[in-house]
Amino acid sequence: MSQNIPIARPFLGEEEAQAAMKVIKSGWLTQGPAVLAFEEAFSDMVGAQYACAVSNCTSALHLALLVVGVRPGDEVITASHSFIATANAIRYVGAIPVFVDIEPDSYNLDPAQVKKAISSKTKSILAVHQMGMPCDLQALTQLAKAHGIPLVEDAACAIGSEIKWNGVWQKIGKPQGDIACFSFHPRKVLTTGDGGMITTNNREWDKELRQLRQHGMSVSDSVRHASKNVVFEEYLRFGYNYRMTDIQAAVGLVQLGRMKSIIKERRRLAEQYMTSLTILPDVALPAEPQWARSNWQSFCVLLPSDCEQQSVMQSMLNDGIATRRGIMCSHREPAYSDHGLWRCWASEHGCDDQSERCLHLKNSENAQDNAILLPLFPGMTFEDQERVIASLVKACNQESRSNNG
Ligand SMILES: Cc1ncc(COP(=O)(O)O)c(C=O)c1O
Repeated sequence: MSQNIPIARPFLGEEEAQAAMKVIKSGWLTQGPAVLAFEEAFSDMVGAQYACAVSNCTSALHLALLVVGVRPGDEVITASHSFIATANAIRYVGAIPVFVDIEPDSYNLDPAQVKKAISSKTKSILAVHQMGMPCDLQALTQLAKAHGIPLVEDAACAIGSEIKWNGVWQKIGKPQGDIACFSFHPRKVLTTGDGGMITTNNREWDKELRQLRQHGMSVSDSVRHASKNVVFEEYLRFGYNYRMTDIQAAVGLVQLGRMKSIIKERRRLAEQYMTSLTILPDVALPAEPQWARSNWQSFCVLLPSDCEQQSVMQSMLNDGIATRRGIMCSHREPAYSDHGLWRCWASEHGCDDQSERCLHLKNSENAQDNAILLPLFPGMTFEDQERVIASLVKACNQESRSNNG
């Protein structure tokens, strides 16, 4: 009996376990030397001047929006087609998400729609690198600059992804925008169990982020610990507990060392899917623009119209293969649709559709309803991939037979 194939599997080993144990035995468990070392290694890896470790990417996005100056009542342009944390972070600061559609083949924000959505109330663009595929940052940064609004990057899935910037390959998070936020959740390419990182080249923002993640405290634990004099802290502003622990950071440091080989392997597996899946010409494969190198955090295919998503997924699950449906759309979830907590960019032009379907988000809705994510993780064998492909072919054939009578 063959083993089930999961959708993802974190790539962790003995080294991570040893690193975590070393911290546990050291007696310094949070906001200590391992966090500082992880921040330094991370900023070096992406080429950013500053990196601030936090508890997860949702807290990273919350703090990023605060430091770039988004306030209650402001509008932030973003994708509905993203994990709900993207929109939630905008709500955390009391602002209103203005959702624009995605491009159908990259699953990323459509810059032409972003342009139409910019108004006097827009205080930021929150651009997502969905599933690790870099979004069109050249176009989006130009728009942001032209309107004097900061560009925040939701790079939750995009560690190690690259973009060609003025002819040179750069890591996402350098940051090409103003500030970028990463996730280290186990479904991501690098994991610390849970965790996040914020990169920026703005020294003042980095200072603020460090205060905000630790209750608004004026002195960091490491500075107080190293001081020869008694230090009394102050609470300079209303802050949060968004700390990363040293146990997480120590794991993250080991994971960073594995990044190059993890991404090389993920890109090889994606290439293999791209080649083999040409046997299903009606299944649309994800597009990697010439200026982008994805880390393939997820591998997403769009099913033809005669294949019902849930039936295909069920048939594959019956074969022992886990899949996931296309990325969710926040505007269709009760947390948003029931409360009118979002705005369609076209509202002012006659679109009052705040219900479950929005004409102006049709690519997003189509991707949620008709795309599926296939298993992709280091350690996946050639035979595993062959099984996935054979199972998908079988499911699609069954579906088209039943739909064609
Ligand atoms: C695009 C995107 N943004 C934000 C998040 C939130 O990340 P975290 O779970 O680290 O808070 C996720 C997590 O899945 C995500 O995919």
